[in-house]
Amino acid sequence: MTQNKKLAVVGQGYVGLPVAMRAVEQGYGVVGIDLDQRRVAALRAGDSYVEDISDARLAVALASGRYLPTADYDDARGYDIAVITVPTPLRESLPDLTFIESSGASLAGLLRPGAIVILESTTYPGTTEELLIPILESGSGLVAGVDFHVGYSPERIDPGNTTWGFVQTPKVVSGVGPEALAAVQGFYDTLVDTTVPVSSPKEAELAKLLENTFRHVNIALVNELAIFAHQLGVNVWESIDAASTKPFGFMKFLPGPGVGGHCLPVDPSYLSWQVRRKLGQSFRFVELANDINDHMPQYVVQRLMLLLNDSGRAIRGAKIALIGLAYKRNSGDIRESPALRLIEILREYGADIVGVDGHIEEHRWPEGLSRGELDQTLLDSVDVAVLITDHDNLDLALLSASAMPVLDTRNRLAGKNVERL
Ligand SMILES: NC(=O)c1ccc[n+]([C@@H]2O[C@H](COP(=O)([O-])OP(=O)(O)OC[C@H]3O[C@@H](n4cnc5c(N)ncnc54)[C@H](O)[C@@H]3O)[C@@H](O)[C@H]2O)c1
Repeated sequence: MTQNKKLAVVGQGYVGLPVAMRAVEQGYGVVGIDLDQRRVAALRAGDSYVEDISDARLAVALASGRYLPTADYDDARGYDIAVITVPTPLRESLPDLTFIESSGASLAGLLRPGAIVILESTTYPGTTEELLIPILESGSGLVAGVDFHVGYSPERIDPGNTTWGFVQTPKVVSGVGPEALAAVQGFYDTLVDTTVPVSSPKEAELAKLLENTFRHVNIALVNELAIFAHQLGVNVWESIDAASTKPFGFMKFLPGPGVGGHCLPVDPSYLSWQVRRKLGQSFRFVELANDINDHMPQYVVQRLMLLLNDSGRAIRGAKIALIGLAYKRNSGDIRESPALRLIEILREYGADIVGVDGHIEEHRWPEGLSRGELDQTLLDSVDVAVLITDHDNLDLALLSASAMPVLDTRNRLAGKNVERL
C-alpha cells in the first residue's frame, strides 16, 4: 500500500530524519527537504548528524533509491503526504512560527487534490487550524477538508532512548474532521506500533505541551528542593531515591544544572503565551518553573564560587573545566543547554574555562571556548571541574579520583574531592 506513495518530510533534523528513515523502510518514496545545505550535503554523503540514526541505516535508505535529501521543494512536487518537522523556537520570549509559515507556503504551491499535510512541530493549540490551513489554502486555491486533508501529530522522540524509539512510542494523531483523522491515522499506522486518535488538532497540540510542561514543572520542583536540601544539610538525591520506591503516585525527576534542548525551555512558554494572549491570565506554574530552572546555572556558579573560596581562590582567573556541554546525556544537542548560560556567566566573572564534550559537532561548538579531553593532563591543569552532562563516553572514575574539587550536578561521582549539587 505504501509502495507508490510519495512522502515529503520537511526538516531533516532530530525529528524529521527518523520519520524519513522509518518511512523509507516501510516502502514510501521519501523526499527529505531541508534548507540547510550543509545538512543535505551530509545526508547525501551518508553522514548522519542525528545520534539515533546510524550512518549504516542512512546508507541503506540512500541505496534503496527511495530517499532523496534535498534543499529544493520542487523535488516534492506531486506529494501524497507531507509531514512538517521544522523548528518552533522562541524569539524574544515569544513563539516564532515563521518556519511553519514558510514551509507551509512552500508546500502549498505543490499541493494537489487528495494529499495529506501533517504538522509535527510542537506548538500552541490552534496553530494547525488557525495558521497552517489558511496558508495551505491561499497558496494552493484548494479547500482543506474538501480537496485535501490536514492533521497534527506531535513528535515524542526522546534522543538517545534505546527502549522507546519512534516505532514503539505510541503516537497521538488528529485530523480536521473524521476523514482527515482516518487518513492521518492510516498513515502513521504504517510507521508506528500504536496510534492514539484524539478528536481535533487542538487536543493533540495541547497534549504535547502538557507532556513537556509536566516535566518542566517537576524538574523545577526537585531543583528548588535541591537548593534548600543543600542548605539544610540533607542529601536530596538519597531522598529522591527513597521516595521513588513508592510504587504508585510518585514519579522520579532529578535535579540538575538547568533545562535545555529544543523542548523544555521553550514549549511551556508557548502555552503560557497563549493563555495570556487569549485569556489575559498568567500560567503561574509555567512561570514559576521557568524562574527556578532558569536560575539553576547561576546557582551552579554560586556553588563553584564557594568551592573555590574553600581554597582561597576567586572565580576571576580560576581555570575551570566544564565537563559535558550538551543539554542531555549521550546527545550532541547543545541548543538552549544550561552549559551555554554557565559559560556566559563564568566569562563575565573572568574565569578561564575549557569545555569537554566529544558529542558536539565542530560547527556547533560554543564560539571561542577552548576544547579539551577528559584526561589527567586536563585535570592537572584546572582548579576546579563541574560535571554538567554525564555522557557514557566520559571517564567519570578519573574525575572522581582527581585531586582538585569537582562539582557534580548529576550525582554520578564519588570521592572526597566531589561535591554534589
Ligand atoms: N528534538 C526533539 O527531541 C523533539 C522532540 C519532540 C518534538 N520536537 C519538535 O519538533 C520540531 C523540530 O525539532 P527538531 O529537533 O527536529 O529541530 P532541528 O533543528 O533538528 O530540525 C529542523 C530542521 O528544519 C530545517 N528547516 C527550517 N526551516 C525549514 C523550511 N522552511 N523548509 C525546510 N526545512 C527547514 C532546519 O534547517 C533543520 O534542519 C520542533 O517543533 C520541536 O519542538 C523536537
